[in-house]
Parts: sequence; structure tokens; C-alpha cells
Amino acid sequence: MSQDHAENRTVVVETVDADATRALGARLAALLRAGDLVMLSGALGAGKTTLAQGIGSAMDVRGRVSSPTFIIARVHPALGQGPDLVHVDAYRLSSLEEVDALDLDTSLDESVTLVEWGEDKVEALSDNRLEIRVDRPHGALAGSSGRAPEAGPADLEEVDDGRRSVTVTAIGPRWAGTDLTVLA
Ligand SMILES: Nc1ncnc2c1ncn2[C@@H]1O[C@H](COP(=O)(O)OP(=O)(O)OP(=O)(O)O)[C@@H](O)[C@H]1O
Ligand SMILES: [Mg+2]
Repeated sequence: MSQDHAENRTVVVETVDADATRALGARLAALLRAGDLVMLSGALGAGKTTLAQGIGSAMDVRGRVSSPTFIIARVHPALGQGPDLVHVDAYRLSSLEEVDALDLDTSLDESVTLVEWGEDKVEALSDNRLEIRVDRPHGALAGSSGRAPEAGPADLEEVDDGRRSVTVTAIGPRWAGTDLTVLA
């Protein structure tokens, strides 16, 4: 069967709170298999880790996905037959070499790899990936990006109306037959 799924390469899902974003993560998890790379981008506090938590809880892996402040990569081993989950915070990494030094290349084959702050650093690791962008459409900090000192957690909470726009883009032949509209 040959079918053009180009129209399903990108899907945008609006969520109204953190739980809705976790639920989206669970729907994403159902599409993921060993070897998949998922890049999570978006400003500080956008909800990248929250989405990763949803993916992690829906996968049968040990431990809860958290914000690894001083940890670059954490492996959540599979409890059953499914793949391991590798959660990477690439914020302190500046190059592909440093990401490579984490041995991500090896685990890519056997794991689902989620990378936060990996833009322009990990793309070369795989021709196939999901690029997920979490945006805050409203709020004073909606346009901010990066970990600016003034954008602390307290500030975020004050202006956070809980709404997020999550854009999922599938790249590479691995995703050619996948209907992303199941995520909406
Ligand atoms: N719709 C939503 N989706 C996700 N998170 C939400 C939503 N509404 C509110 N939040 C809150 O926003 C915060 C998102 O924090 P999270 O750690 O997931 O962000 P992050 O993008 O990983 O940040 P960092 O850049 O520091 O890694 C949480 O406190 C979460 O409860
Ligand atoms: Mg995070």
C-alpha cells in the first residue's frame, strides 16, 4: 500500500493544563518504539519535562521522569518487553561531540530517546525524529526563550494560564506511514 501521508507530518495540539499535556505524552508513547528520537523544544517552563513525564508514565519503565537539573541524561530501564527510555537535558551541552560522549548513539537503537534543549546539537544522530515544540501562546513570558535569570519559576506561575500549544513534526521515512492526527 502506497499512500501519501504528507498532510499528517505536522499536528498542533492545544492543551489547557499540565495533565492534558501529560495525556498527550501518553498518546505519543503509543506511537514510539525502540530507536526513536524525540526532540523537545520550547522556552523555560514551557512544559517539555511535563510532556516527557506523560511519555514516561505510559511506557513501562522504571522511575518517574523529572527535571534533571544537574544530570545530563537519565536512563529509565524497561520493566517489560518495551524499550528503555533515555531522557536528556542538553542545555549544558553545546555540541554534537558532547552528546555523542554520552553514548547516545548506542542507546538510540535500543531506547526511546527524549532530548530537551537539543536543537542544533543532536539532529545528526538520526535521520528520523519527532520534533516537538511547546509554546505558551498567552502570558507575559510567552515570547521568552532560554533560561534567562529573570524568568524564574515564581514569575512563570504568576502569568501562567495553563494553556500550551504543542506542535509535533515528524521527520524522516520512519514516520512516513504514521497518522499523527491520532494525537489531536
Ligand atoms: N498545559 C500545560 N502543559 C505543561 N505544563 C504546564 C501546563 N500548564 C501549566 N504547566 C506548568 O508549567 C510548568 C512546566 O514545567 P516543565 O518543567 O515541564 O517545563 P520545561 O519546558 O521542561 O522547562 P525547562 O526548560 O526548565 O526544562 C510546570 O510547572 C507545569 O505544571
Ligand atoms: Mg525540562
